[in-house]
Amino acid sequence: MVQVDTTVAHSARMYDYVLGGKDNYLADREAAEEALKVWPELWTSMRVNRAVMRRMAHWLATEGGIRQFLDIGTGIPTSPNLHEVVQEVDPASRVVYVDNDPIVLAHARALLAGAPQGRTAYVEADMRDSDVLFATPDLRETLDLSRPVGVTVIAMLQFVEDAAGLIDEVTAHLAPGSYLALTAATADLARGSTALAEVYTRRGVPMYLRSCRELEALFADRYDLVEPGVVPMQDWHPAEDEDSVGVEQTNMFAGLGRLR
Ligand SMILES: C[S@@+](CC[C@H](N)C(=O)[O-])C[C@H]1O[C@@H](n2cnc3c(N)ncnc32)[C@H](O)[C@@H]1O
Repeated sequence: MVQVDTTVAHSARMYDYVLGGKDNYLADREAAEEALKVWPELWTSMRVNRAVMRRMAHWLATEGGIRQFLDIGTGIPTSPNLHEVVQEVDPASRVVYVDNDPIVLAHARALLAGAPQGRTAYVEADMRDSDVLFATPDLRETLDLSRPVGVTVIAMLQFVEDAAGLIDEVTAHLAPGSYLALTAATADLARGSTALAEVYTRRGVPMYLRSCRELEALFADRYDLVEPGVVPMQDWHPAEDEDSVGVEQTNMFAGLGRLR
């Protein structure tokens, strides 16, 4: 039986509510409604984030030639998820999903329904203790860490105070040629993003905003940034069939780098 504290809002369930999902409680809905009130474009931004996640995953599987993936801060499943994108390119691709919200665990079966040739695993872990994650048998049996891995940290770093420490720890486990893809919240784009972060924080979900420079620094000296670098997420390899979105409509940067 999954134990959930339903009295405090949680980022995964607020996100689920805004995207129209049903896996949320009153505290999540109230917090999300307040967030939408201070910054109504949150809904657009979350959709743009899901789209860039898919573009980055597709890029990793095609241009990057990556066949094993580690998705940190997976969230409640919304199709298509990362394994669907990469296993469409190569059904033998292997994916490990990680999240610390028990509700995501309750949906793990949906996340694990990957292509039979490949393999998907779900690990419930708090990324602030990444050594535990990297020692987990499910991860070790699914990923060959002596070979390149595509690590995706999508809309998750804003919930971690020591983002640099987390990226350092993850990077220490990766083979050269691995990739790091991230999206993270900032105050540099939409004006409403600071008020939004205040709502999240007041509702028990501390949100840390970072500048473009701070996000670039997470890659610096170890990763070579893939063009166009760290940019508003709608500008990261935009797809022709996606609606154009202005800077005021999103609150996240996206960037992808290759480990030297
Ligand atoms: C806004 S959701 C993003 C979900 C998905 N990556 C996406 O972009 O659609 C953030 C996710 O990060 C997870 N998360 C936050 N802090 C975490 C931590 N310390 N360890 C693991 N997961 C965490 C939350 O549970 C939530 O599912």
